Amino acid sequence: MKVFITQKLPGNCESLLMKKGIVTETYKSDDIISKSYLIKKIKNVDALICLLTNKIDKEVIDNMSSCKVISNVAVGFNNIDIEYAKLKKIVVTNTPGILTDTTADLAVSLILACARRIAESDQFMRARKFKKWMPQLMLGLDLKGKTVGIIGAGRIGQEVAARLKSFKTKIIYSSITRKLDFEKNLGSIKVSLNYLMRNSDYITVHVPFNKSTFHLLNKQNLTLMKKDAVIVNTSRGEVIEETALIELLKNKKIFAAGLDVYENEPNINPELLKLKNIILLPHIGSATIETRSKMSFLAAKNVISVLKNGKAINPVN
Ligand code: DGY
Repeated sequence: MKVFITQKLPGNCESLLMKKGIVTETYKSDDIISKSYLIKKIKNVDALICLLTNKIDKEVIDNMSSCKVISNVAVGFNNIDIEYAKLKKIVVTNTPGILTDTTADLAVSLILACARRIAESDQFMRARKFKKWMPQLMLGLDLKGKTVGIIGAGRIGQEVAARLKSFKTKIIYSSITRKLDFEKNLGSIKVSLNYLMRNSDYITVHVPFNKSTFHLLNKQNLTLMKKDAVIVNTSRGEVIEETALIELLKNKKIFAAGLDVYENEPNINPELLKLKNIILLPHIGSATIETRSKMSFLAAKNVISVLKNGKAINPVN
């Protein structure tokens, strides 16, 4: 049995696969593998371990005739045509749960960094502009007593809320379904998306990207935000209409934004780079040594489980 891995992964997932008698081949370069080379490499494999940067579309799937499982090293799987894979009897798996706390930590870091202008202050220091303490220097915003709006109250959204609750905030959320435990545990209240946009001081986005969440936050509802609101996105860039957000930030219609993901990732709209009231991160939501190793390990375990037992641990299709 053979598995192809589209990039060198942290941790020891290759040795785990080899111990189970599965031959591994890993694309050695740090560049994203080209579609044509990927197609060449997956012709006779039993499994593929891939990343969110690999687009696994119909054409790729049509070239993996012996493949039984596509194991994505991510919780999101919008890079894979899961319906077509299902049609071709290929199981698609993801790595849920293990990156929840790590991603929640980053969302909270972004909220605090935006509220207290951490990145801007750091740049100020490096530019040797700090001459004296001043009563109006780098004034930010408090969290205590403020309203936090959680868009998408899944695992990550709920963990972000739990962390922010300890800052004595009020939690409101928008979600397709009511989350009764979440309401009971944190006193959170389910509201409409427009209500959330209008009434939150801090907004944090945690919905998966799919057809129904493309530009979920758009010109219409982004303009409802308070003048001193902060918005943070650690889910997928396509969920926010980026040009509308840029306009708001440019015209100081909101206080700040923190982005870990982008609409045309990895291409960054140059307008974003000109703004001071934004923090930009290179999609590092799950990027800790511990979590990335666990993600690779779980991706390998999903492959082993399908190839040896015919059943995935974390199927998504
Ligand atoms: C995911 O797992 O979907 C994350 O975005 C990876 O960091």
